[in-house]
Amino acid sequence: MTNLAVDICGLRMKNPTMLASGVLDETGKSMLVVAKAGAGAIVTKSIGKEPRVGHSGPTIVELPQALLNAMGLPNPGIEAYAAEIAEAKTAEVPIIGSVFGGSEQEIAELAKNMQEAGVEAVELNLSCPHAKGYGAEIGSTPEMVETICRAVKETVTIPVFAKLTPNTSSIVSLAKAAEKGGADAVVAINTLKGMVISPEAKMPVLGNRYGGLSGPAIRPIGVRCVYEIYEAVSIPVIGVGGISTGREAVEYLMAGAKAVQIGTAIWKEGPEVFGKICREIQDFMDEFGYTKLSEMTGVAHHGRT
Ligand code: FUM
Repeated sequence: MTNLAVDICGLRMKNPTMLASGVLDETGKSMLVVAKAGAGAIVTKSIGKEPRVGHSGPTIVELPQALLNAMGLPNPGIEAYAAEIAEAKTAEVPIIGSVFGGSEQEIAELAKNMQEAGVEAVELNLSCPHAKGYGAEIGSTPEMVETICRAVKETVTIPVFAKLTPNTSSIVSLAKAAEKGGADAVVAINTLKGMVISPEAKMPVLGNRYGGLSGPAIRPIGVRCVYEIYEAVSIPVIGVGGISTGREAVEYLMAGAKAVQIGTAIWKEGPEVFGKICREIQDFMDEFGYTKLSEMTGVAHHGRT
């Protein structure tokens, strides 16, 4: 009998799928829906210190095999969001609080607020590619990643996950810096910075001009990043980017991910995609004789030089 359970830094998940930050996670009720649909853990919307309306529209462009978004980190602020976490926690799956801020002090403070709100771990958004002063703007150098992770680790007792940007010449350097700063796990990857122009309107489509590309088109980049990071650090890697089937989740696991996050697939398939992906992972394991997820973790590295 196959077993999909996994433990990430003490978080016990019944399966390796997590809701990625940014999709269906702005309210407690929507997070409950995703948990009920089968997600093994939930990552909240990225939350900042104060309420924020985000960028003006259009904020999403649908493309073949991808979405380009520039939401601009809209959120109600940490104080108001605590009530949403309280509701989400009734789901009995681990809740991971995602935070963004403009300095290490601000991020550490938010992580503490998240811990007080009752989350089991905190995910640092060091990678949003379209918000001035936040995300990738402060998470693109190893020095900053290390400094921020260290500040957060000195402030909270729950596990700290660093979500990294692929918009860099070396995501491996960022992962090593996160590990050096004390992060308990790294999450790879956030979206790729991109732009769509309307030739008819002679202007970029997104209100913010630039956005972050997600969905199936970025999966080979995500898998490559996880593969490289797995060889460079000892802390767990959580893979994200373009997963909508069990087989695609297995790709990430074999690259070295211990768990995977799913976001954009919900756009097309709804929250039920979590149950479907888990059934497909199970079918794959049955067909190829795996009994535990750990038997697949990183196997794509074997025999390679
Ligand atoms: O705007 C957003 O909420 C997106 C966040 C991200 O890309 O990290």
